[in-house]
Amino acid sequence: MIEATWIDFTLFFVEICWQVEFLNACCTCDSDILILSLDKFVIHGGKKLNGTVTIGGAKNATLALMPAALLASGTFHLTNTPNLRDVATMSNLLKSMGTKVHLKDHVLALDTTNIKKQEAPYSHVKKMRASIYVLGPLVARYGRAKVSLPGGCAWGPRPVNLHIDGMRKLGAEIEVKRGYIHAKANRLTGAHIHFDISSVGATGNVLMAAVMARGTTVIENAAIEPEITGLAKFLQSMGGKISGIGTNRLEIEGVDELHAIEVDTIPDRIEAGTFLVAAAMTGGKIRIDNVEPDHLSAVTAKLQDAGCSIFVDQKSITLEGPDSIKPVDVTATIYPGFPTDMQAPWIALMSIANGSSVVTDSIYPDRFKHVPELVRLGANIELNKNAAIVRGVKQFTGATVMSTDLRASASLILAGLVAEGTTEVLRVYHLDRGYEAIEKKLQALGADIERMASEEF
Ligand code: UD1
Repeated sequence: MIEATWIDFTLFFVEICWQVEFLNACCTCDSDILILSLDKFVIHGGKKLNGTVTIGGAKNATLALMPAALLASGTFHLTNTPNLRDVATMSNLLKSMGTKVHLKDHVLALDTTNIKKQEAPYSHVKKMRASIYVLGPLVARYGRAKVSLPGGCAWGPRPVNLHIDGMRKLGAEIEVKRGYIHAKANRLTGAHIHFDISSVGATGNVLMAAVMARGTTVIENAAIEPEITGLAKFLQSMGGKISGIGTNRLEIEGVDELHAIEVDTIPDRIEAGTFLVAAAMTGGKIRIDNVEPDHLSAVTAKLQDAGCSIFVDQKSITLEGPDSIKPVDVTATIYPGFPTDMQAPWIALMSIANGSSVVTDSIYPDRFKHVPELVRLGANIELNKNAAIVRGVKQFTGATVMSTDLRASASLILAGLVAEGTTEVLRVYHLDRGYEAIEKKLQALGADIERMASEEF
């Protein structure tokens, strides 16, 4: 009897600790909302989406701009900052180094006057790989950094060798031991760096380091994703000397000092693309506001091929879905090609197309965790290496499915919006990493979707 009580107590204690750790990871910083991780979405499919939705600031841009603030002392203001779990995670990491962080009404204030620690511990990095972005700014400004290796991710290996090689080329002494990257340098020196692979993260990291290095750095085969272009412009406004912005050859003349600035974050092209696909799938008509149509041209071109009518204005896109979706092959690749972050939503769309299509991912060959879940909803998809052969079905049918990662979760919601009956999407904390209040935005467009506490996990 006594033994049973102790076992019960221990299990209860473990469960409480786990949940507290979990909720800590899911609470936003000093901010307006508290996101509970154990929620699920309950969707009654079949409603056409109609109306207007405003797109938030880009998650991936914000996650690059925040660490860039470590390069100068002072208070930065980032307007149009999305209130997301990943932004909270980066805030907590920067706070642990001594940054004062405050997010209110989508304005993020970062005060970097008093940085005491140059470390990104595993407890932070394991929650979000983009934490590695602090490496470049810390070595450049403080001459040292200790950053945990991110490890694998939900859909497969994601190495950081290019980040490390780039820092070494800039003269940093790097040792990788016991799961950590230890970097030091008296002062980084400019170098000629040619990336074998175009990498968003490595380009961003090396760029942030090079901007304060002594002399000139050239980055060849640099990523040209809008989030990197946005970062380069941000560094330029801080006093950095960068030319070739928007091309895959960046030339950086290192400076001694940078200063704090106020900047408006670019709109989130993936959130925008997800809403466009939602309208296409439901056969509705929506306008998305606060977008950069140029950033979405690969996606809108494919949506037109699928039969959607699209009208593009300066800062908005209107899409009217067709009666019947045409099958369209897509290969996810680097910008300005079709984004890998839209691959899962595209598979959801193609699953109800009138015919077969092939969706290939040339960036992440294993990024298909959504496929078995979409199949549970009635999709007919076969995987062959890094491609999904999607044979369109008439309709999805509602079921309980599980989110496995951010964009996979988005594809399940999209499927639920058009499924016959009720779909429950569990583990929506993945979704909260990158879509702010998605259910509220969808409700405003007429969707029947609700966030509810879940007993299942
Ligand atoms: C960023 C985005 C992510 C998006 C991805 C591709 C952020 C926070 N995340 O991730 O949403 O899906 O770009 O557009 O901005 N690679 C290496 N070695 C490295 C780094 C990358 O081999 O050191 C490979 C990767 O495995 C991948 C390719 O390069 O095959 C591109 O990855 P990368 O552009 O670096 O992606 P992330 O910056 O991690």
